[in-house]
Amino acid sequence: MSSYLLDVTNFMLRWLHVIAAIAWIGESIYFVMLDNGLKKPKAEEDRRKGVFGEMWAVHGGGFYHNQKYATAPDKLPDDLHWSFWKSYTTWLSGFALFVILYMANPSFYLVNPGSPWQWAANMSGLEANLVALAFLAGGWIVYNELCKRISPNMDRDGLLSIAVAVLMVVVAWLSVHIFSGRAAFLLTGAVMATAMSANVFFWIIPGQRRMVKAMQAGETPNPLDGKRGKQRSVHNTYFTLPVVLLMISNHYSFAYANDWAWVIIALLIFAGALIRQYFVLMHAGHNKPAYPAAGVVLILLAFGLGAPSLSGNDGEATAAVTSEPTATAEQQGAEVDEAPLARVHSVMVERCASCHAAQPEHPSFSAAPAGIALETEAEVEQHKAVIQQVVASGYMPLGNLTQMTDDERKLIAAWGSE
Ligand code: HEC
Repeated sequence: MSSYLLDVTNFMLRWLHVIAAIAWIGESIYFVMLDNGLKKPKAEEDRRKGVFGEMWAVHGGGFYHNQKYATAPDKLPDDLHWSFWKSYTTWLSGFALFVILYMANPSFYLVNPGSPWQWAANMSGLEANLVALAFLAGGWIVYNELCKRISPNMDRDGLLSIAVAVLMVVVAWLSVHIFSGRAAFLLTGAVMATAMSANVFFWIIPGQRRMVKAMQAGETPNPLDGKRGKQRSVHNTYFTLPVVLLMISNHYSFAYANDWAWVIIALLIFAGALIRQYFVLMHAGHNKPAYPAAGVVLILLAFGLGAPSLSGNDGEATAAVTSEPTATAEQQGAEVDEAPLARVHSVMVERCASCHAAQPEHPSFSAAPAGIALETEAEVEQHKAVIQQVVASGYMPLGNLTQMTDDERKLIAAWGSE
């Protein structure tokens, strides 16, 4: 029952998370589009009022006239619209999901038993949870310090962008080494997503509040507050597409169960930022297809690295099978011919069915994970392709909790391949 409740909570939190993120990112994209698409105001009167740009739009049967002030209007209205709950809701629901999904089962969702670092491979569940929290907090602290130290007056933002890009590659590399594949993708995305929400919480909104307060007191607002809000908001713009890409990547084991996972993450981040750049420029009236084209090249490169023949893990499995002399292959073939499915099936029952059953023995699951039960020969046959993929990549059994042997992996790889 408790795992059923967990499933329901997960389902509803995920819904909330996706909706809040759509609203937040949608608004962010809208405002960048608005900002970049502003035209000089036509009416002399508007210019005199301090309007610096305007946009006319038609949407949902209505006509809209947005105006942006160079600094601020003479008198601020009382009913100013603020945007922050969409951001906070996205982060809070995302963090809650991380807690019930990953932190509730850290030993097989967070720990990377294949880590080249002993301390990471041998972490207890509690340690893994603490390391994950430190990873998120540390990511924000380092990012924030880079911003404050490299471009405190917003005059070295170009250099800062390079530093942030390098930081993300380091985050990807570290997370892949410390955490299991799926968690590494998720946590790299979560470091960026945390920076985005923290930018809103610690800098953008407080800066806007100070500006409004100054104006209400009849003083000139500190222009640095506005510039800093813009700096962080620009970072958020380029984070949006990569974050979403990383958040959905955890359904695709070829991306993360792979020796090149950190390079794949870095390529996906840069691809997302390049594609975003296309739209930023397009809304300012420049059509630069080279940006998305470069993004697509990076994505193709990432998927090239993820392809089974190149990825290290699968390479090992294939090498192990193909390096056998032909005689052995024939021998194996003979055995496999005898009852290929029956042998694979017995391995599945022993190594997989404690989780992959209609009613799993494993206390964490109330139903077959990923909807895949592996109890009967028919079920095993039905899922053949994906079984071979997840076993070859080492992703399954999760955390190798059921201690599948290398011989068994070879058997699965050789199954039906002759
Ligand atoms: C400790 C529990 C556990 C064991 C043991 C286990 N799995 Fe899984 N398996 C899971 C969970 C949880 C998921 C869902 C994770 C996800 O969404 O990626 C999953 C997902 C899968 C998927 C779907 C992956 C995808 O990309 O959609 C396949 C296929 C699979 N397992 C096969 C196996 C095979 C084959 C074995 C035995 C060699 C095995 N599993 C052992 C828990 C387990």
